[in-house]
Amino acid sequence: MPIGSHILHLADRVDILIRREKEILGQVKGICAQIRENSGTMFLPELVDVFMSLSTKEYFWFDIVSPSISSILKFRSKTVPIDLDIMDLLNYAKLFRKIIDFRSRLTATHSSEVAATAEALAKYIGFSERECHMMKIAGCIHDLGKLAVPNEILEKPNKLSEDEFYIIKSHPYYTYRILETISDLNVINVWASLHHERLDGTGYPFHYKGENLPLGSRIMAVADVFTAITEDRPYRKGMSKDKASQVLQQMAQNSALDSNIVSTLIIHYDEVDSIRFAAQAAAFKEYQEFKRQSGHINWLQ
Ligand SMILES: [Fe+2]
Ligand SMILES: [Fe+2]
Repeated sequence: MPIGSHILHLADRVDILIRREKEILGQVKGICAQIRENSGTMFLPELVDVFMSLSTKEYFWFDIVSPSISSILKFRSKTVPIDLDIMDLLNYAKLFRKIIDFRSRLTATHSSEVAATAEALAKYIGFSERECHMMKIAGCIHDLGKLAVPNEILEKPNKLSEDEFYIIKSHPYYTYRILETISDLNVINVWASLHHERLDGTGYPFHYKGENLPLGSRIMAVADVFTAITEDRPYRKGMSKDKASQVLQQMAQNSALDSNIVSTLIIHYDEVDSIRFAAQAAAFKEYQEFKRQSGHINWLQ
């Protein structure tokens, strides 16, 4: 087993032993005793020795429980910048897409469909090839903030309570806050995170209006609504072409969605819908494979 895995294992156990509601220094003795007890069985003895010498320093424990731990780490650890080209970034985005979507059967194919639709719309609108790739990346991670929403809410079969709806509403906010930590992703972040904003300012969470909403964000909003109403869900079929076109046109008329983008979608409806459908089918296959493999892992344990 690589040393990195041993280190992570020890760190994970230490974190689990900490009781956040209690003062930290008073817990050090107990935590160290438990770690020492498992030296040579659960943990590498030489790693336990290193941990014991670290544990005598108060700052280490104060850091662990500090609410500013992320900025402390950012300041303390040397990060090595890596260069990713757009296709590398797309591969990372696809990985995150699975992390976001595969939490629930109800969302298993959603980001794939949004990504494929947004990319297709961007192509028709006249975005460059690179911008189309960026749009696809933004589509894959537009619901990243849903990781902050508990599964019970995502999967609730009946109507959401007011509080639950407030929690759902936080997801584009978290998408934005997570992605803004990487400044090179600024454009992609804006395209991804503003997908619930509406041209008339009635969207959320920023309530940007009209000209404050970049074209990429408007495309994402249309792609997200289109996907939400046309995708099949386990409890209902997606809307027909007529019905979906009607809903989108109504939203454009009400100045919620961009009417040019909606018109572009309606003109190319069949092509876009078949691209979306193919993305749904491919993602569903991946999801089934993932479930099969994770079922296998559970069985092994
Ligand atoms: Fe969303
Ligand atoms: Fe979405």
